[in-house]
Amino acid sequence: MIELKEHTPLLHLNTFGVDVRARYFAEVADTASLEELRMLPVMRDQPRLILGGGSNILFTRDFQGLVIHNTMKGMRIVAEESDYVHVEAASGENWHGLVLYCLDRNWGGLENLSLIPGTTGAAPIQNIGAYGVEIKQVIECVDGIDLSSGQHRRLTPDECQFGYRESVFKHALREKFFISSITLRLTKKNHRLDTQYGAIREVLEQRRITSPTPRDVSDAVIAIRRSKLPDPAVVGNAGSFFKNPTVTAKVAESIRGEYPSMPSYPTENQYVKIPAGWLIEQCGWRGKKVGRVGVHPQQALVIVNYGGGTGAEIVALSEEIRASVRKKFQVELMTEVNIV
Ligand code: FAD
Ligand code: EPU
Repeated sequence: MIELKEHTPLLHLNTFGVDVRARYFAEVADTASLEELRMLPVMRDQPRLILGGGSNILFTRDFQGLVIHNTMKGMRIVAEESDYVHVEAASGENWHGLVLYCLDRNWGGLENLSLIPGTTGAAPIQNIGAYGVEIKQVIECVDGIDLSSGQHRRLTPDECQFGYRESVFKHALREKFFISSITLRLTKKNHRLDTQYGAIREVLEQRRITSPTPRDVSDAVIAIRRSKLPDPAVVGNAGSFFKNPTVTAKVAESIRGEYPSMPSYPTENQYVKIPAGWLIEQCGWRGKKVGRVGVHPQQALVIVNYGGGTGAEIVALSEEIRASVRKKFQVELMTEVNIV
C-alpha cells in the first residue's frame, strides 16, 4: 500500500545536507507501488522529482511537488555464458553495494567505478564515470516505466544516447521515465582491466601488484578516492559540482602559453578537456570558506557544506567561481549537479 506523506524533511536524503522539505513524498519499493502512485491525483497535478541517493542534487528551496523516493531492491543473474555474466539490478540498490556484490564473485567491469555514491538507477542518468571508465561500457539495457502511460520500456545503449555526464534521461525523458532496473554485461574471466589512469598505476606499483585482479583495481580506486574526495557522511557535498569543460585546441594552447603546467586530455573530434578543478584552483578558490559553505581543500571541483548551509548559499558560491573562471580564462563552466 503506497503511503503519501506531506511536508517531509529531505535533510538526510541529500548528500549536500540541505534542510528542505517535500510538499508530497512517497517511497516506491516495487513497480506495483509505482503503479498505485501513478493512479493518484497528485501524480497528475504536481511537479515531480525522482530521488535516489540524493548525491547529485542540490535543493535550493522546499520542493513544491511530489518527491518519489526509489527503494526498489534486488539483484540477479539473467544470463550466463563461458566468458560473460549478465546481471540485472533493481534501481534502488546502492551502487557501491552492487560493485562489491560483483567483485565478491570476481566479475570484472565495475572496478573503476567503485565507491561512487547513490543508487544503481541513477547511474545511467549522467553515465557515471571515473578513472577512465564510464558505465556505458558495460550497460546492456535500461528498463523503466513511462510515468504518464504506465508502459514498460526497455532502452538499448544507443537509445540511452550516452555522452560525457549525459544521456537521454537528462533531456527528452527527464522526470517522465522512472528507471526500474539496469542490466550489465560483466566479464567472468579474461578481464579487460583499465589501469591507464596515472594514480591507479602508482598505487598498484606501490603495492607491488603486477597482475591485478578486478578487486586490486577497486582497492586502488577506493584508496585514491578516499585521499581526495570528502565523505558525504562527514561533510556535505555532491562530488564534482561542475563538468570538466571541453575547449578547442586553439583555446587550450593559448591558456597553456601562460600556464605551461596546465593538465589536459584529448577527446574525440579534436577538442581538449581541461580539468575544472585546475581552473578553479588557479583562481584561488581551493580551500576557501565562505560562511557555512566552501571549496574542498583537496579537490577544488567539490563544493562543500560545512553544516547548515543553504542551497542558495551554495549556488551563490558556484556563481562566483564560475564568474572568476570566465574572467581569468574565458572558459564557461557547466554544472554537473542537478539544481532544483
Ligand atoms: P540522485 O542525486 O538522487 O538523482 C540524480 C538525478 O537522477 C536526478 O535528476 C534524479 O531525478 C534522477 N534519478 C535518480 N534516480 C532515478 C530513477 N530511478 N529514474 C529516473 N531518474 C532518476 N559521479 C560520477 O559520475 N563519478 C564520480 O566519480 C562521482 N563521484 C562522486 C563522489 C561523491 C563524494 C559524491 C557525493 C558524488 C559523486 N558523483 C560521481 C555523483 C553521484 O554520486 C552520481 O551522479 C550518482 O549516480 C547519483 O546517484 P543518486 O542515486 O544519488 O542520484
Ligand atoms: N586538479 C587540480 N586542482 C584541484 C583538483 C584537480 O589541479 O583542486 C587537477 C589534478 O591535479 C589532475 C586533474 O585536475 O591533474 C584531474 O583531477 P582528478 O583526477 O581529481 O579528476 P577530476 O577531473 O577533477 C573527474 C570526475 C570525477 C571522477 C574523477 C576520477 C568530472 C566532472 N569529475 O574529476 O567525478 O571521480 O575524474 O576519474 O568529470 C563526479 O562526477 O562527481 C566526480 C567526482
